[in-house]
Amino acid sequence: MTGLPWFAYRDGQLCAEGVPLTKIAAEVGTPAYVYSRAALDDRYKTLAEAFAGLPVLIAYAVKANASLAVLRRFGELGAGADVVSGGELQLAVKAGIAPGRIIFAGVGKTREEMALAIKAGNTGIAQFNVESEPELQALSDVAQSLGVQVPVAIRINPDVDAKTHKKITTGKAENKFGIPHSRALDVYAEGARLPGLKMTGVHVHIGSQLTDLTPFAETFERVADLVKSLRAAGHDIRRVDLGGGLGIQYNDETPPDVRAYADLVRKHIAPLGCEIALEPGRFLVGNAGLLLTRVTFVKRAEEKTFLILDAGMNDLVRPAMYEAYHRIVPVKAPNPDAPLMPVDIVGPVCETGDTFAQARPMPPVEQGDFLAILSAGAYSSSMASMYNARPLAPEVMVHGDRFAITRRRPSIEDMTALEIAPAWSSEAKA
Ligand code: LLP
Repeated sequence: MTGLPWFAYRDGQLCAEGVPLTKIAAEVGTPAYVYSRAALDDRYKTLAEAFAGLPVLIAYAVKANASLAVLRRFGELGAGADVVSGGELQLAVKAGIAPGRIIFAGVGKTREEMALAIKAGNTGIAQFNVESEPELQALSDVAQSLGVQVPVAIRINPDVDAKTHKKITTGKAENKFGIPHSRALDVYAEGARLPGLKMTGVHVHIGSQLTDLTPFAETFERVADLVKSLRAAGHDIRRVDLGGGLGIQYNDETPPDVRAYADLVRKHIAPLGCEIALEPGRFLVGNAGLLLTRVTFVKRAEEKTFLILDAGMNDLVRPAMYEAYHRIVPVKAPNPDAPLMPVDIVGPVCETGDTFAQARPMPPVEQGDFLAILSAGAYSSSMASMYNARPLAPEVMVHGDRFAITRRRPSIEDMTALEIAPAWSSEAKA
């Protein structure tokens, strides 16, 4: 009934693999993120199999879910990582991902972050994805000061419309990302003149949650042409990084089949004979996790009914930020004949935007019931905050009929551990 094989009803109870969610709630409380290890494995293997026979580096986009338990599992499965900060770089290394399989992207890398990546594991990372000319200069300076030359890909903005939500589209000319396609040859020439850089790659990423292959096809064609022009201009392009963006099913979308996506790569990119890097985030984790929550109150107002949950926008900001749809289902299997009634499903945070769903048809739900907000594996925990002094929700990994708490719920001491009372205050004297 959830449409997700890893989260199905058994004996009237929603389970994560073999574990009833009520058991997890009893042990860790709610809200809590619950991940299925089998789902991570399945998504990774499905992607890897679609690209079988091609020289591909699957660099998991850490921003989608930076839990060490998730990173470790992908590391074990053979993934590399796409990181966008010194913090993500250190997490990936800590999780056992070799620096030689790490790609560093992002529009605003600081010189300190560049140095960290150059020094990682003594050999440095696989590739820097550079987004601007000042960044080229800065990276060359840092590399030179450390006595090395670093492999660079320029992120090309192909000016393709990804037809996704405006806040997650990145490949249009008006977006802040990358270098215009028309300037690519000039910028590569500039990079080649800088002593700290080796211009060995091309990078594109046009947006996230793409549910149509056409923008990918247009982009790959442009990239292939560009690689040919760059080679003709004398650049030794060895790696094409195609970014992430493959959509998943949240509701009634029909995301592209991953094999069809791989076929596009085979058609347009494989003939170039380069290594191919992919940066999937959402595809690998989005449907591998849910947010387990409990109904604190059912509030019957004159015009509508609100289900007030113990999870809020600080735990899952996607509906508030992108009008994103997440399916929400009761943990106790509803009676199939029960009538569906429209309800507003909201969190406890003091913001009207703290709304998960409006006029959502739901079976009867009572105070104290558990609900599961589905497809919360990507951009949920990683975008969480402690707004309203709410503790970060714990994370649980399920494996068969076992589960492990991979991040506990912080206490108020944990939440204030970094705070320092100024010397002049009474707390400092106490
Ligand atoms: N590579 C680059 C350069 C990116 O900017 C991103 C995502 C990815 C890879 C991974 O994209 P994915 O495969 O996950 O679509 N918070 C938003 C999504 C932001 C995506 C940012 N960049 C959301 O919750 O929908």
